[in-house]
Amino acid sequence: MTARKKIAAANWKMNLTWPEATELVNALVDSIEAVNDPCQVILAVPFPYLQSVSALVKGHIGYSVAAQNCHQKAAGAYTGEVSAVMLQAMEIAYCLVGHSERREYNGETHAVLADKLVRCIENKISPIFCCGEPLAIRDQEKQNEYVAKQLQEALFVLSSDQAASAVIAYEPIWAIGTGRTASSQQAQAMHRHIRSVLASQYGEALAGQIPILYGGSVKASNADELFACPDVDGALVGGASLVASEFSAIVRSLTSA
Ligand code: 13P
Repeated sequence: MTARKKIAAANWKMNLTWPEATELVNALVDSIEAVNDPCQVILAVPFPYLQSVSALVKGHIGYSVAAQNCHQKAAGAYTGEVSAVMLQAMEIAYCLVGHSERREYNGETHAVLADKLVRCIENKISPIFCCGEPLAIRDQEKQNEYVAKQLQEALFVLSSDQAASAVIAYEPIWAIGTGRTASSQQAQAMHRHIRSVLASQYGEALAGQIPILYGGSVKASNADELFACPDVDGALVGGASLVASEFSAIVRSLTSA
């Protein structure tokens, strides 16, 4: 059996002009020219940059590009939207699905996310399925049930064969952009729980192969501790991914973990 992938993923969100983006990617690949299996670097960039960032990382082993979203329908009269069919045609390998910001600001429901997951799989795009609880749920200690339901209501639309290409990102909403990271104990406990929920649907062997990333105020200074957790297979990084030195230090933590 192959080793589980370890992934340092950047989520730029709606940040960086194209000149800033070019400078950042060039600095990153200058600093880390290649990453070797089982490690990977994924850059989730705004739609207009997908093709150009793909060109900048081309030839750098272990680098890929992700979209931050796709539409739940394959094609049609949906002005301003981007389909998974289009992403596949541009050779985009990954797509974020269900980021908490899209759930909140774009009203993405479990049913919509289930459709997006299917569109990704139909187009040979690995979905990076995001889950995570708000603070009120954590305060009531109901986070395990909350995250299990997010997986059951959306991810579990996929068969075992389809789920094999998925990546999970656990991002507690109270830790996103707040500077308040989950402790490594909290992250490990939730990642273990997620793996057991995956095992209940797909079996232990497949659950053991699906990478589970942590997201929420990951920085160079806390990456080592998070990556030392046995069920934390990498990170989905927002703010710190916009700074080349920070993100390259996070990648180095991953490759040396
Ligand atoms: P921050 O790293 O800025 O907290 O963002 C996390 C995130 O939402 C990544 O998708």
